[in-house]
Amino acid sequence: MDSHLRALPLDFGVERKQSMDHFLRLCFFFILATSLLVAAAFVGPAECIRRKRQLPGGGEGGKGGGVEQFKYSAAACRAHTASLADFGGVGDGATPNTAAFRAAVSHLSQFASDGGGMLFVPAGRWLTGPFNLTSSFTLFLHRDADIKEWPIIDPLPSYGRGRDGPGGRYSSLIGGSNLTDVIITGDNGTIDGQGAFWWSQFHSNKLKYTRGYLIELMHSNQIFISNLTLLNSPAWNIHPVYSSNIVVSGITILAPVHSPNTDGINPDSCSNVRIEDCYIVSGDDCVAIKSGWDEYGISYGMPSQHIVIRRLTCVSPTSAVIALGSEMSGGIRDVRAEDITALDSESGVRIKTAVGRGAYVKDVFVRRMNLNTMKWVFWMTGSYKSHPDDKYDPNAVPVVEGISYSEVVAYNVTMAARLEGIPSAPFTGICVSNVTVQLAKSMKTPWYCADVEGVSSGVTPAACASLADQGAAAAPCPFPTDASPMDGFQLQQCTYTKSSDA
Ligand SMILES: *[C@@H]1O[C@H](CO)[C@@H](O)[C@H](O)[C@H]1NC(C)=O
Ligand SMILES: *[C@@H]1O[C@H](CO)[C@@H](O)[C@H](O)[C@H]1NC(C)=O
Ligand SMILES: *[C@@H]1O[C@H](CO)[C@@H](O)[C@H](O)[C@H]1NC(C)=O
Ligand SMILES: *[C@@H]1O[C@H](CO)[C@@H](O)[C@H](O)[C@H]1NC(C)=O
Ligand SMILES: *[C@@H]1O[C@H](CO)[C@@H](O)[C@H](O)[C@H]1NC(C)=O
Ligand SMILES: *[C@@H]1O[C@H](CO)[C@@H](O)[C@H](O)[C@H]1NC(C)=O
Repeated sequence: MDSHLRALPLDFGVERKQSMDHFLRLCFFFILATSLLVAAAFVGPAECIRRKRQLPGGGEGGKGGGVEQFKYSAAACRAHTASLADFGGVGDGATPNTAAFRAAVSHLSQFASDGGGMLFVPAGRWLTGPFNLTSSFTLFLHRDADIKEWPIIDPLPSYGRGRDGPGGRYSSLIGGSNLTDVIITGDNGTIDGQGAFWWSQFHSNKLKYTRGYLIELMHSNQIFISNLTLLNSPAWNIHPVYSSNIVVSGITILAPVHSPNTDGINPDSCSNVRIEDCYIVSGDDCVAIKSGWDEYGISYGMPSQHIVIRRLTCVSPTSAVIALGSEMSGGIRDVRAEDITALDSESGVRIKTAVGRGAYVKDVFVRRMNLNTMKWVFWMTGSYKSHPDDKYDPNAVPVVEGISYSEVVAYNVTMAARLEGIPSAPFTGICVSNVTVQLAKSMKTPWYCADVEGVSSGVTPAACASLADQGAAAAPCPFPTDASPMDGFQLQQCTYTKSSDA
């Protein structure tokens, strides 16, 4: 057995053997939902899988040797398909399928330069441990899977250590590195991270390593993740890192609002990202853009840039709808967010950095936010105290500049804004226009500003004096008019034909 696939001696229980079964059942896995698929096949013509029908030769009510055909949309169609069942997978909610997933991906990897491969996960509850994807590959999910072995992998180079603690980290449930053209999709199939086990281990300080994420793709190009429901991730849900040309679309992410660090979608040192039509309820930021942590992120030096977020609906009572940072040491620039709806969230947009991070957050444009029940609509801080170690450079002072917010309506808000720059390096070029905040109760200072500079217009209640009021007739804050890099991405109509074994 390859050393990194060895079952882990997690400190979770008394008797290892006994708890391992328990562990297998309760703690690890993911669900690729099929009940919905089947429902869609019979009911919903607009669904991704629009039809399931017997082809000529199938023989209606015949001997059971028919052929099923599914149509679906995806960024690319694949020439070769296989079903998890062909690799010995059993979707009974009890049988581990880790080996089947790994064998299926390995088999399909041979077609990367021959039209690509798709792994079809049929109806069922498919328990699985972590597995990696391959290039020119589609994972089409319907149901449930569970997990057995969580290899420990190195920390991300731009973090220098695991996010939860020093050292490495557990691998992610669905991973991949150095890939091109990866699609993870399904007819709203479900991947269930069974996070409760991890959260309780985390809260009781029993984990020696950083928790794995639900989906993590590293050093990859052309990543398309769509039409899925992600439940109860151990930590972050979708984590593309050191990657580019990414679309995340039509994803529902659900986790208890007090679960630890269950961020929704975290592009990390990524370029050309489009996140749209997602609904996220989680215990941390709905979307968090990151790019490395202090000296490790500075030396890695890979920014997150050219990111579009649109039509996001978020519930995040303890965190932000959209966060930038706090790990931003590779820089964050050109972020555009629009048509954002949030309920019961701590802050709307939150920029977090600290001395020691270096780099920058600049050219951030946000418009059309509709918010209800918030602590702060806008929040920025230059003194976010979390460092991987004490080796950070005190002269690495981050620059925050060119931040635009417009067309924002917020109801039932505790405080309109809390904006705190760095005394030696104020945050500049902040623009706020056409913003109406209805406060839950009247406060003397609905805006608190320190070490920030910029302009405002049409803001109620009036912004602080350091955002000089230009008058209601002033031009609105800028928002770029050019297309985002992933706007050209087109879906194709694909057909998957499979023998229906009787
Ligand atoms: C997601 O599903 C919808 C139908 O529910 C379909 O119209 C759309 O093309 C799918 N999107 C992607 C990116 O797969
Ligand atoms: C998945 O790939 C990572 C490298 O990205 C590797 O460390 C890990 O061991 C692989 N996991 C499996 C299950 O193959
Ligand atoms: C993956 O790509 C990164 C960045 O280009 C490179 O440093 C690394 O060696 C590659 N890993 C593999 C396994 O090819
Ligand atoms: C997908 O499933 C989730 C969870 O059941 C549900 O809340 C959501 O509305 C579904 N999305 C679509 C597009 O059907
Ligand atoms: C207003 O916000 C408070 C929490 O600050 C919440 O308890 C209350 O339900 C909200 N009211 C409305 C009408 O949403
Ligand atoms: C101000 O914002 C509101 C929505 O928040 C929008 O309806 C209105 O058109 C905006 N006004 C201007 C002048 O842009």
